[in-house]
Amino acid sequence: MSQTSQGAPAEAVARCAELVQQLNHHSKLYYLLDQPEIPDAEYDRLFRELQTLERDYPTLKTASSPTQRVGAETLSEFSSVTHEMPMLSLDNAFSEADMLGFEKRIRDRLKISDDIEFACEPKFDGIAVSLLYRNGELIRGATRGDGSSGEDITLNVRTIGSIPLHLNNASVPAVLEVRGEIFMPKSGFAKLNLRAAERGEKTFVNPRNAAAGSLRQLDPSITASRPLVMCAYSVGYVEGELPETHSGILQLLGDWGFVVSDERRVVTGVAACLDYFQMMQKRRPALAYDIDGIVFKVNSLELQQQLGFVSRAPRWAIAHKFPAQEEMTRINDVEFQVGRTGAITPVARLEPVFVGGVTVSNATLHNRDEIERLGVRIGDTVIIRRAGDVIPQVVAVVASKRPKDSVSIEFPELCPICSSPVERVEGEAAVRCSGGLICGAQRKEAIKHFVSRKALDVDGLGDKLVEQLVDQELVHEVADLYQLSTEVLTGLERMGPKSAANLVAALEQSKTTTLPRFLYSLGVREVGEATARALALHFGSIARIAEASDIDLQAVPDVGPVVARYVVEFFQQARNRAAITALQAAGVNWPEQEPKQQQDEIQALPLSGQTFVLTGSLEVLTRDQAKEKLLALGAKVSGSVSAKTDCVVAGPGAGSKLVKAEQLNLKVMDEAEFIQFLAELN
Ligand code: IVH
Repeated sequence: MSQTSQGAPAEAVARCAELVQQLNHHSKLYYLLDQPEIPDAEYDRLFRELQTLERDYPTLKTASSPTQRVGAETLSEFSSVTHEMPMLSLDNAFSEADMLGFEKRIRDRLKISDDIEFACEPKFDGIAVSLLYRNGELIRGATRGDGSSGEDITLNVRTIGSIPLHLNNASVPAVLEVRGEIFMPKSGFAKLNLRAAERGEKTFVNPRNAAAGSLRQLDPSITASRPLVMCAYSVGYVEGELPETHSGILQLLGDWGFVVSDERRVVTGVAACLDYFQMMQKRRPALAYDIDGIVFKVNSLELQQQLGFVSRAPRWAIAHKFPAQEEMTRINDVEFQVGRTGAITPVARLEPVFVGGVTVSNATLHNRDEIERLGVRIGDTVIIRRAGDVIPQVVAVVASKRPKDSVSIEFPELCPICSSPVERVEGEAAVRCSGGLICGAQRKEAIKHFVSRKALDVDGLGDKLVEQLVDQELVHEVADLYQLSTEVLTGLERMGPKSAANLVAALEQSKTTTLPRFLYSLGVREVGEATARALALHFGSIARIAEASDIDLQAVPDVGPVVARYVVEFFQQARNRAAITALQAAGVNWPEQEPKQQQDEIQALPLSGQTFVLTGSLEVLTRDQAKEKLLALGAKVSGSVSAKTDCVVAGPGAGSKLVKAEQLNLKVMDEAEFIQFLAELN
């Protein structure tokens, strides 16, 4: 291997120069322009690679290396502020081993073997700020900038409600610099993007970019209109007395009127830190704001002082990061999936990537409008986001990584499954296959829906089995399911005689059902569980529903002209009527009733005529339990919020539905209020 005059291999010198150039470029995009091109996790990886190279070949380290600096230079439009004390960064831990290393370094340096007390708090995913108070008056607000100087954003921070302008407390030091994070809560972000989308404006990629963009406004009235929160996490330069612990400082900041995290804890020893980390990782989706890890700080200020700093970070603190929710990968291909109603969805086939704790190889691109909005092509490198249990999303294209041979995404003219022409309906983003039940894909989806839990609930008939049954032409339409014998089923992949017999028994059992379930199982467009229930209650029999006109149908609460039309069209089709007859002939049955009698029954219930929406996560009740209770009281439970909604029950993590409810001025309850409300009705 060739050696250079610096004593490092030529490859290392070249890679080091390349990393410095890339990190400077991305740091500028991130800090200066609020337009990050690569996910944080990718930046962290490049950064660590450079750190390792510099550690192995110390001659490669220069004073201007990104590892020796904290951020980028300041923007020219805002005036510059020199921090009295530098605003440093934090070292990262990505594993338990990293955390154990952190504890060991502290113990070795302090020459102690006792367990150390740590203050634990969320690592907010926002923008670091410094607020300077003189004699209790807010005199300056600044961004972190490059750590030693930032931008003067005093006018902007003054518009943020959670930042106190005066501190009226005798114990406030004469000069006090408070540091913290400004972020945009998830619900505020959803609302802002909803509004932007309605106006055809560009939406923000994530709450952090939205917060950064909102702060870096030369017109403070724009900042004022944005839902920003500041959470205080430490002090900087102080002239005056302070408590002896970090937790004591946070307590005081809270007393003086700052927002401090309710999630903060003090624990002893690194094992307890790891427990807190696990606990918060579970809580993360339910929090009202984004966090990307946990910060652990030695609680004693005396020990902090003894430990001191290394170049860019304190030795007494560490950020233990959660697995990244955003990662970069390549779109290898785009395929088109056909759903139950014929909707054709483009699905990106990805180079597999580990994101949000799982390996992801597919992401939906939703529809043509979404492809246009993203400007995505096959071959592009994209940012994939997977938060909580949410399906992976493509959030942005990394424009600089577009290869010369990228290919535009063309929607098929013919259905990829049955070759029927595809049609685009006016006013709808979706493109549909016109093949109906001729289309194998639609048939498979229709059968999967028919046997699903909320429909006829056939135990043991999973998606893979349905696919085999259709592919092997054993089932053409739903009624054929009831002709399946144990012998035929035993011949299928991964089907022993016992499972086959169980499935035949489950099918037999599913024949005794209810009208709402049966109606739902037919898969009429826009007829979900609630609408099926309402139709069944109103008409009492399948024959009356099949004969109902648009006007008759619209007499049912919550059935509008669109749903009414879909119902009429469904029953007009001879093949659908034939499918129902075949099911009844196979023995599928349900009790039917007189419509009038049922009407009287529902009218008598305490929540008759009221529509509820459940959103966010519930902690005491499950969603299904809450729904059942509401239905039993005569209420309707809908999946979407509209002016016709009577009440929204919102748990932690509620997003756009809560926003819409607030916009429409609807009644909103949290879970505790909801439980109380139910108790009062009973
Ligand atoms: S303490 C010297 N506490 O993380 C220690 N930082 O790389 C200074 N951050 O941009 C930071 N939540 O703004 C601290 N609870 C928290 C934090 C936190 C988020 C940010 C901070 C900085 C980055 C550190």
